[in-house]
Amino acid sequence: MDIERTDINAEPPIEEPARQYYYIGKCRQYVKKFFDEKGRSPSACVTTFGCQMNARDSEKLRGILREIGYIEAAEDKADFVIYNTCTVRENANTRVYGRLGQLKPRKRAHPHMMIGLCGCMMQEQEAVEKLKKSYPFVDLVFGTHNIYKFAELLAARFESVGMVVDIWKDTDRIVENLPNERKYFFKSGVNIMFGCNNFCSYCIVPYVRGRERSRSPKAIVQEIERLVSDGVTEVMLLGQNVNSYGKTLDTPVSFAELLTEIEKIQGLKRIRFMTSHPKDLSDELIAVMGNSKKICRHLHLPVQSGSTRILEKMNRRYTKEQYLKLVEKLRKAVPDISLTTDIIVGFPGETEEDFKETLDIVRKVRYDSAFTFIYSKRTGTPAAAMENQIPDGVIKDRFDRLLQEVQAIAKEVCAVHEGSVKEVLVESVSEQDPSMVTGRLSNNLLVHFPGGQELIGSYMNVRLRECKGFYYIGDLMGV
Ligand code: 5AD
Ligand code: SF4
Repeated sequence: MDIERTDINAEPPIEEPARQYYYIGKCRQYVKKFFDEKGRSPSACVTTFGCQMNARDSEKLRGILREIGYIEAAEDKADFVIYNTCTVRENANTRVYGRLGQLKPRKRAHPHMMIGLCGCMMQEQEAVEKLKKSYPFVDLVFGTHNIYKFAELLAARFESVGMVVDIWKDTDRIVENLPNERKYFFKSGVNIMFGCNNFCSYCIVPYVRGRERSRSPKAIVQEIERLVSDGVTEVMLLGQNVNSYGKTLDTPVSFAELLTEIEKIQGLKRIRFMTSHPKDLSDELIAVMGNSKKICRHLHLPVQSGSTRILEKMNRRYTKEQYLKLVEKLRKAVPDISLTTDIIVGFPGETEEDFKETLDIVRKVRYDSAFTFIYSKRTGTPAAAMENQIPDGVIKDRFDRLLQEVQAIAKEVCAVHEGSVKEVLVESVSEQDPSMVTGRLSNNLLVHFPGGQELIGSYMNVRLRECKGFYYIGDLMGV
């Protein structure tokens, strides 16, 4: 798209993405005005809360901001602060309100400052009502379904006074070919589907991210080909439930078939994906993973609970035994696979017996790592209305016991690779020690080893000298 050639004095185009490029052109006028008045370009900061899906959306927002003419700045310096919010657990919302409270005096002192809010939390009606009432200094509020309209909404804000709010209930629309700003030059997230149809009884995601819809295999493959020609060698395929990819397409395509197509892309070295739902993980997919040279030896497979009784109440649609069978099949087909998971503690009605089943599944599977969450009541979900909500003290006790178990096992599992030489993709200079770099193994473990910035983006063979619990210290062996 050539923004220079877009006539911003004409009527806005109806079709996308041309319409958004038109509004990018419009917004540029305001950026120019800012520059003329202040002698500098305005700066912006997009802060992400929540998951990788949100992180990917933030990259899209940054791409649009860059095209408009904003420069990036730290949040405490930025003229335009955007929070891309999460609402999966209550504390995510609480953090956003806290941060907004801190922004208030800054905005009072610098009235030209702008504040934007988007993402999952904005899809909740009560949150938007609260913003209108208690945080009227916010400039722009939009949701997950219309994020592609960011430039258009920003133009609307420039042309009006007061808060601009645009929230859609749902959408079946996917807009391709918008600007994009990647955080890493060598790896990238790629959306393959949006939304979720599973309605796990505790989860708010299906309500805020809408119905499941998949991008066409062609659009996905083309995007990855473009990324590869731009230097990317690792992609992370993103979806709330990637295993049900393609079911809603006019010509249905399975996730395994999509992976087979992506595997053929020359120059692409690593393929990751998340998140997988155990109920949809097919034998076909396991076979493709076993035969693949590019799919990484890591699977994030949220179990949520080890109790079949609780799994049923969670509407997960598998039993403890089925999950364990799946793990067995996976380990047989991909012997060196690393498994990680999500677990919720304190779901309504969870008894000590149920919790012991969770501890038992953790001991049986021996996860490489696990994200453990305290159940959070989300208004509007079936679980919120269930009886027998568990007292905080009981939950805290179970949570601590689970964490201890998970960490002890992870430490042992991680250590098995000690002494071996593995290929890593170097991602960054180590945060703790500038004479070291950090690389990621195919199985998703991190290794820190002596090296310089010039290694970033390269694949190196590294000896895993010492396991430090969840990561390694290593030595470079060569390319
Ligand atoms: N409370 C606690 N954890 C939750 N998750 C989703 N909804 C809730 C909730 N209401 C967790 C699940 C999911 C992860 C992304 O967040 O474990 O896999
Ligand atoms: Fe939420 Fe379940 Fe969908 Fe994951 S699969 S987003 S936990 S409803």
